[in-house]
Amino acid sequence: MVKPIPADRESMWWAMREQPAPTPASEPSPALPSAVDVLVIGAGVTGLSAAVELARGGRHPVVVEAWRAGAGATGHTTAKVSLLQGARLQRIRQHASAEAVRSYVEANRIGQGWLLDLMRAHSEPVQTRPAVTYAVSDEGAQRVHREAEVAREAGLEIMDEAAHGLPFTTTAAISLADQAQVDPMGAVAALRAELEAHEGELIEGVRVTGLSGGNPWTVHTSAGDLRADAVIMATQTPVGFRGAAQNALSQAKRSYAIAYPLPSGIDPESFPMSLSLDASARSLRTAVGSDCPVLLVGGAGHPVGEGGSTTAHVAELDTWAREHFGVGEPLWSWSAQDYLLATAMPFIGALPVSHGTVLTATGYDKWGMALGAGAGLIMAADLLGGSPGHATAMRHHVTGWHDAASIGAQVAKTLERIVRDRVGSTKADEGAPAEGQGRVEQGPIGPRAVSTVDGRTCSVSAVCTHLGGVLAWNDAERSWDCPLHGSRFTSDGTRLEGPATADLAPVD
Ligand SMILES: Cc1cc2nc3c(=O)[nH]c(=O)nc-3n(C[C@H](O)[C@H](O)[C@H](O)COP(=O)(O)OP(=O)(O)OC[C@H]3O[C@@H](n4cnc5c(N)ncnc54)[C@H](O)[C@@H]3O)c2cc1C
Ligand code: FES
Repeated sequence: MVKPIPADRESMWWAMREQPAPTPASEPSPALPSAVDVLVIGAGVTGLSAAVELARGGRHPVVVEAWRAGAGATGHTTAKVSLLQGARLQRIRQHASAEAVRSYVEANRIGQGWLLDLMRAHSEPVQTRPAVTYAVSDEGAQRVHREAEVAREAGLEIMDEAAHGLPFTTTAAISLADQAQVDPMGAVAALRAELEAHEGELIEGVRVTGLSGGNPWTVHTSAGDLRADAVIMATQTPVGFRGAAQNALSQAKRSYAIAYPLPSGIDPESFPMSLSLDASARSLRTAVGSDCPVLLVGGAGHPVGEGGSTTAHVAELDTWAREHFGVGEPLWSWSAQDYLLATAMPFIGALPVSHGTVLTATGYDKWGMALGAGAGLIMAADLLGGSPGHATAMRHHVTGWHDAASIGAQVAKTLERIVRDRVGSTKADEGAPAEGQGRVEQGPIGPRAVSTVDGRTCSVSAVCTHLGGVLAWNDAERSWDCPLHGSRFTSDGTRLEGPATADLAPVD
C-alpha cells in the first residue's frame, strides 16, 4: 500500500537532488531591490525561461519565488517534453481553428528545442524517446484516431503504431518519434545557471501578495514593497490581481505519480513515454533513479477539491501498476496540479487593464514543459518588442459556441458549488476527527474546517481566502483544497499553493 503523500510534497526529482524539501524559507526575508526593470513572479519553467530570454536580450529581470525554484508543478511533473500530448490537440481544435492549433504546436516546438538545447549546453541529461498515445477501450480508440487526425492537420508526423512497446493489448496507438524525457530539476538547474550567467537575479523565499498602481507597479511582497516597470506572473494562475479573468475561467486538476524500481523485462533505453486516452488516463515513462532505473506511473487525476478520497486515487494508481507491470514497493509518490482554461487554448500575454505591462501564462493542462519554455519566450518577446506570429495566432483564435458553452458551464458550476457547500456543511460534532481525517462543519460565523494531523487537532475557517470557496479535505496530502481555483492550505491553515495570498484564520 502506498504511504500517504508527505506534506513536504517531495517528488523523486527533489529527493534525488538531495536539496532541502521545497518548504517556505525559514530564514529572515531576503533583501529586495527597491525598483526593478522586469519582475518575474515564480521560478518554474515558465518564469525562468522568460527571465533567461529577457536577460539575454539586455534587460535586468529579477525573479522572486515564494518557496524555492522548481517548488511548483515543474519540480513535480512527469517531465515528458513532447509535442504528442494525449488528447490536447483535439480539445483545443474543438474551440479553435486549424491555424490556431498549428500555432499552439509551433509554440511547443520552439519551447521544446530551446529548453533541450539549454539543458544539453549545461550538461543536463536529455533522453530521446518516441511518445505514444494509446487506448485499451473502444471509446479511447476513437479519441486516439481523432488526435492523429488533428495532429496531422497541425503538421506532426504521426505514425499508426502496432508495435508500441507496451506490455499489454491496446485498441489503438499512435506515436511521434524523437521526443524527450528529462529530470525537471535538471531543467531548473540549467535555467538558473543561464540566468545567473547573464546577470539576472533569482530571490527565493519571497511571496508576492498583490499589485497596485501601474506604470510603474507597486508590488507587495512578504519582504516589503518594490516598484517594477513590468511584471510577469509565472505562477500558473495569476495572483493578487483582481482583473485576472483567467481565475474565473480556470480549473485546477490534481494528479498523482508513483515511482517503482523498474520491473524485469522492461528496457529503460527503449521503453516509450506513453499516455492512455481511456476514461482514467495512465502516464508511463522510465527514469534514472538514485540507485536503480525506475518506472514512473502517473494518473488518477481529478479537479482539485473534488472526487472524494484522494487516498483512494493513489491506491487506484498503485493497483493498476501492480496488475499491469508486477511492480514492487514504491520508491516515491507525490502529487501536483496544473490548470486548464474553459476555452482549452492556454492564455499567454498581457492581462486586461494592465496596458501590456502585466503578463501571464496559464492553462497548460498538464503539458507545460515544452509550452512553459515557449510561453516564457513569447512573454519575453512581448516586452523586448516583436511578438512572434504564432503568439498572435494563438491569441486571436476564433471564439465560437464551444467557448461560450464551456465558459457558461464553468461559471454555473462555480456558483452551484458555492451555494451547495455553504448550506451543506454538517452541524458541529463534539469529537475530534480521527488521525489523518478532516471535516467541514458549521462554525460560529460560517463553515469551519476541523482536522487531526500527527495527533494535533486544528480548527480553521473553511472559507478560501481567495474568492470564498468552501474547502474540501485531501486525506492523501492532509491539506484543505479549494474546488473553485485550486488554492491549498495545510491543516493549520498555512497557504500552500494557488491564487489565494492569505492563510486561513484560526476558529475556536
Ligand atoms: C502530475 C503532473 C504531471 C505533469 N506531467 C507533465 C509532462 O509529462 N509533460 C509536460 O509537458 N507537462 C507536464 N505537466 C505540466 C507541467 O509540469 C506544468 O505545466 C509546468 O511545470 C508549469 O510550469 P510553470 O512554471 O508555469 O508553473 P510552476 O512550476 O508551478 O511554477 C510556478 C511557481 O510560482 C511560485 N509562486 C506561486 N505563487 C507565488 C507568489 N504569490 N509569489 C511568489 N511565487 C509564487 C510557485 O511556488 C512556483 O514555484 C504535469 C503536471 C502535473 C501536475
Ligand atoms: S482558489 Fe479561488 S476561491 Fe479558492
